[in-house]
Amino acid sequence: MFTVDPVGGNPKGLHIPCFRAVMSQMSLKEVRVFSPATVANVACGFDVLGFAIEQPGDEIVVRRSAQPGFRITKITGDDGRLPLDPKLNTAGVAVLDLLRHLGKTDLGIEMEIHKKMPFGSGLGSSAASAVGGAFAVNHLLGEPLTRKQLLPFVVAGEAAADGAWHADNVGPCLLGGITLIRSNAELDVHAIPIPENLWAAVVHPDIVVLTKVAREIMPRHIQLETSTQQIGNLGGLICGLYQSDYALIGRSLHDLIAEPYRQRLIPEFYRAKRAAMAAGALGFSISGAGPSVFALCEGEKAAREVAKAVAEVFSSVPLKATPYVSRINPKGVHVLSAS
Ligand code: HSE
Repeated sequence: MFTVDPVGGNPKGLHIPCFRAVMSQMSLKEVRVFSPATVANVACGFDVLGFAIEQPGDEIVVRRSAQPGFRITKITGDDGRLPLDPKLNTAGVAVLDLLRHLGKTDLGIEMEIHKKMPFGSGLGSSAASAVGGAFAVNHLLGEPLTRKQLLPFVVAGEAAADGAWHADNVGPCLLGGITLIRSNAELDVHAIPIPENLWAAVVHPDIVVLTKVAREIMPRHIQLETSTQQIGNLGGLICGLYQSDYALIGRSLHDLIAEPYRQRLIPEFYRAKRAAMAAGALGFSISGAGPSVFALCEGEKAAREVAKAVAEVFSSVPLKATPYVSRINPKGVHVLSAS
């Protein structure tokens, strides 16, 4: 029996999808989703700010199975690095947590994970798998939870990879756009407006940086002056995004907390930064824990020029450099097909 609330809200704040959607999803046998890469921190918002990009992104397929229980049957594109055991896999941990919450651990569900982004890249790879897995299973089951209600499960999935509880990758991956996390503990998450002509240039140099390692080299204590400047920049960036003030966005894109420590993990980081700024970036920093780097730009042309200039620096090391130029992705994770 389903309770149907045509206006979509109810006193307990529970998400109840419309009757027709539930009926059509009840019979779903297979769901394929796209789960995008994300840029976490966005320079001045360590652990509290992130945005989604259009490409790359993982594809996750879930289907019903006659055999009870949840299984990961296949992982591609991971060079054999990721475990099939759901208890050791970020997507698996998120899905197991979700199924436990829904009281459906006996349900027969199989999952395939097709990794389309590099491991240890700073592009939110583990977050994309955790989000894609939980979102796909939730869709297969007729959307018992809203996207926001999936947050604790996907954060737990990502925490299985790096041991830390932060939603600055999973937030924008799940909800799309630019996401501010006021509190990671409370998962108090907010969408920030996307200025119309804001583009991102992201470049991945072909080295691996483990988030766990990049977190361990961070300082435990921050000088008062440093923290004051970082807070000013974060406030300035949020104001700039609300007001589509590109100059203010540019003035605010500075990271005084993580970048000075983590830049040493990225060959020629400061040369890449100078090249990006000379090519017209509003600002430039490390994407998440690195080694990918990102710039925000006004317009596509500037973003393409910045990506090219940065890729040239990494190529001269020599390192294979893969550029991704895109608008901020407003959709986040989404269904590619369902049958
Ligand atoms: N905020 C996180 C960090 C993102 O910088 O460590 C990486 O997952």
